[in-house]
Amino acid sequence: MSQTALLEAAGLHTYYGASHVLRGVDLTIRPGESVGLLGRNGMGKTTTIRSILGLTPPRRGKVTLDGRPVTGAPPHTIARRGVALVPEGRGIFPNLTVRENLTMGARPAPPDSPAEDWALDRVLTLFPPLGERLDTWGNLLSGGQQQMLSMGRALMTNPRLLILDEATEGLAPQVRNEIWSVVRAIKDAGIATLIVDKDLKTMLRVCDHCVILAKGQVVYAGPASALAADPEIHVRFLGI
Ligand SMILES: Nc1ncnc2c1ncn2[C@@H]1O[C@H](COP(=O)(O)OP(=O)(O)OP(=O)(O)O)[C@@H](O)[C@H]1O
Ligand SMILES: [Mg+2]
Repeated sequence: MSQTALLEAAGLHTYYGASHVLRGVDLTIRPGESVGLLGRNGMGKTTTIRSILGLTPPRRGKVTLDGRPVTGAPPHTIARRGVALVPEGRGIFPNLTVRENLTMGARPAPPDSPAEDWALDRVLTLFPPLGERLDTWGNLLSGGQQQMLSMGRALMTNPRLLILDEATEGLAPQVRNEIWSVVRAIKDAGIATLIVDKDLKTMLRVCDHCVILAKGQVVYAGPASALAADPEIHVRFLGI
């Protein structure tokens, strides 16, 4: 493929102390593409994200953004290059208001960016419940609203790649649907996404490409449509 990858991770080996968790993970995301990262519990999905973001730097392998190496760069450098995370567990500030949570890390789109800026008004259009609670403390929001806040905060950094780690976890079905429709809207706005979620059926509809991890290795990588047509792989690597 001729288009330069937005993100390329190649041969990542990542450890927690002596524990060798990622064993040569490769992952490519092109501009605007939506990639699903799948695998059973403990297979290395969050560690892959942490490796990309510089939170747990890989001991071997490389990470590039727009073809430029960022392996081992600190998280704030990678964030400035346009990668935002909606973490497992949401990570909002409970003792700050919704408005403060949204604005404290905000970063305008670069002047040369063709994309429309994600400023407060635009984010609130995507998440109307937050607009009604701008002065409410984060810890007084429902789980679904906290998830919206975490996503809104990430969008306010004007990312080119948004990473979502279990964004629908622990939410009621209707709230999950709302989160998925926002994920689709983010995709339609041209932002690339790396999505980790347990809902295979919806992942196959939303994602362009899927990667499955087992024990820290890539055991499947291909178009979502090909994975959708291969139930044997669902059973073998996802237990579904
Ligand atoms: N901070 C840590 N210290 C030591 N081991 C860890 C740490 N975090 C994760 N691990 C181990 O690394 C492996 C991969 O964990 P990781 O969190 O990346 O998996 P995951 O695919 O995101 O799982 P889940 O679906 O449960 O979120 C697991 O065996 C886990 O126990
Ligand atoms: Mg995880």
